[in-house]
Amino acid sequence: MIKHLAWTGLLLLSASAAAADTPAGLMARYAQQSGVAVSALSPARGEALYRSGHPGRDGKTVSCASCHTANPKQAGQSRVGKRIEPLAPAANPARFTDAAKVEKWFRRNCTDVLKRECSAQEKGDFIAWLSQVK
Ligand code: HEC
Repeated sequence: MIKHLAWTGLLLLSASAAAADTPAGLMARYAQQSGVAVSALSPARGEALYRSGHPGRDGKTVSCASCHTANPKQAGQSRVGKRIEPLAPAANPARFTDAAKVEKWFRRNCTDVLKRECSAQEKGDFIAWLSQVK
């Protein structure tokens, strides 16, 4: 019984280690979900998504850059003034290493800014751009 439990634990541990996420791994997953090759993801479209303005509350224009700033290597600020660590992996290696967190914030922020969820391809483009920011 104990032996069995230990084995299960080991299996779970190795499964979670194997599932460790990386920007490249997430790009591959989003490309696959949208039925395109990773090489078809576009950093230029990712940057456009990041910078493009959309009508927000009170007639103000909002974009991803509203909170994450024009330079994704800089720390940003939430609407209530809370510090947001930089989004670019070059400045913050913790970015795009946790698929559940990435999905949660894409859902929340795309819905907030675009009034809809981002497509898998848009998410792939977005990470493709941010991971090449030096
Ligand atoms: C109202 C402010 C705000 C706006 C606008 C915003 N974000 Fe964010 N974003 C946050 C906050 C807050 C977090 C979570 C805190 C953190 O991770 O530092 C976050 C985190 C993220 C993450 C998590 C990345 C990771 O691996 O940790 C992604 C992806 C993301 N945002 C994408 C976007 C996209 C795409 C847009 C534009 C469509 C956008 N955000 C616009 C506030 C914002």
